[in-house]
Amino acid sequence: MTGRREFLRNTSLGAGALLASKYLSFAGQDTGAESRIEVLLDEPLGVISPNIYGHFAENLGGVIYDGIWVGKNSPVPQVDGIRRDLIEQMRKIKAPVVRFPGGCFADSYDWRDGVGPPEKRPRRTNFWEGVESKDGNATHKYDPNQFGTNEFVHFCKLIGSQPYLAANLRSLPALEFDRWVEYCNSPAGSTTLADLRASGGYPEAFGVRYWGVGNESWGCGGNFTAQEYAAEFRRFAAWVPRYGMELSLVASGPNDDNWDWTRGFLEEILRKGPGQLRSIYGLALHYYAWNLSRGRTRDWNEGKGDAIKFDAVDWYELLRQGQVIESLIEGHWQVMGEFDREHRIKLVVDEWGPWYRPGSDATPGNILEQIPTLRDAVFSGLTLDIFNHHPEKIAMANCAQLINCLNSLYLAHEDNFCVTPVGHVFEMYSAHQGGQSLRTVFSSPQIRYDRDGNQATFPGLNGSASLHDKELMLTVVNPHISEAKNAEIAIRGATVHAASAIVLTHSDIHAHNTFAQREVVVPKTQMVAVQRAAATLTFPAASVTKITLTLA
Ligand code: AHR
Repeated sequence: MTGRREFLRNTSLGAGALLASKYLSFAGQDTGAESRIEVLLDEPLGVISPNIYGHFAENLGGVIYDGIWVGKNSPVPQVDGIRRDLIEQMRKIKAPVVRFPGGCFADSYDWRDGVGPPEKRPRRTNFWEGVESKDGNATHKYDPNQFGTNEFVHFCKLIGSQPYLAANLRSLPALEFDRWVEYCNSPAGSTTLADLRASGGYPEAFGVRYWGVGNESWGCGGNFTAQEYAAEFRRFAAWVPRYGMELSLVASGPNDDNWDWTRGFLEEILRKGPGQLRSIYGLALHYYAWNLSRGRTRDWNEGKGDAIKFDAVDWYELLRQGQVIESLIEGHWQVMGEFDREHRIKLVVDEWGPWYRPGSDATPGNILEQIPTLRDAVFSGLTLDIFNHHPEKIAMANCAQLINCLNSLYLAHEDNFCVTPVGHVFEMYSAHQGGQSLRTVFSSPQIRYDRDGNQATFPGLNGSASLHDKELMLTVVNPHISEAKNAEIAIRGATVHAASAIVLTHSDIHAHNTFAQREVVVPKTQMVAVQRAAATLTFPAASVTKITLTLA
């Protein structure tokens, strides 16, 4: 499939490598490696915001109820009603921020339903009830409101994350946005809402900094035009109570390549003068890779593929779809620059991941509950590397979604729990958080594959690199389904003192973890012997790897 002499020069940042000693040596000799990775220490690109490694938990299917919240009286191991296994895993990955309660759910949610004594909270119809299947075992049609603001913020505290709340712009007035902020952030004893918070056991202000102002306002969030939404945003953002702290308001942005939304929104915002830009911390970008039809259709239902049953072409097609996000980041950033020359406003990619057709639910009937495979781990590694390439543009990103949903890190049902291959990637990549992103050059033969009679290509090795003092993190993805890749890694500007490696791979590209077999796809760690500043190593087929290099 691969032309050995044909090289794709990838000048994006990031790089990486990791592997078992079987594959890795630091001889620095001419080993005939067909690929080269150069990490340029003197070309820093910016600090990688830890929030790029953020999460999204919507009140949808089994995400909140069963996934996160099992209840205080549950026999499932829990802390104050929150699943203990989840807390432990999320601490490991240094989860920086979690977005809640939606998604589309957010614009039908009344935050007042989720506060006060739990036994008095109302039951409501969930936004997603119409999508619930009639014959599945699970039903989340009705929302018991047992997991509200207190429980969510408590969950965030337990895992060491910051809360990111998405406010309802479609069906609640701006005053209720102010009041939710007041409930969360007004000082102890200062207001009736602070007292209500205290009566639930939380006298001290939550200090919630991140607030989404609507979600997908071009669609489920109100069917607004960009201009209409901009006027709404200005109204919602106009005089939100601050309580002495900075609030970071995220405007509902485009999905896909809807440049008109970004342009129309900013144009309209500016109609009230340049000062208005200061009210916006971030512009949300949503991107799902879903169309595996190989160009046959753009129909949302027809175009989707299966999460577990796929062939080699589906593998590459999904990864190709995933690569599109980089052009969206660059494209929307360029449009934003037309209006915001200093680029004060950053991108917040608060929903991303693959989206397959229904049918692979770990718990039958849990809508949107996909079982992530090795393909999704590779997809996630590639996406996170792209985010690392753009530290100056992206302030936050939130994988959709945390548990029992689309690209989930974890699956859970009753007392069953497992970490998916995507969860393992997040643990490996957590080392990039807060690092200085470095330009890294990948020279690697392209992958060629047959796409229904036409030749298609995909880049060979991809990755990213970041520096923390003397520690260099390199992550490398080999997307080839069957060929291991030999690569020489050169660290320009330093010598290597020590290195260790981790690899996530499997001989079966469909491999995934289940409640019965939780360790089918797990990372393997290996110490690496270092002799010189250059390393030559082999990246297994279909793998995500990380090398931690200690620089002299
Ligand atoms: O993540 C599922 C849904 O996808 C979200 O609710 C919505 O924002 C998006 O369309």
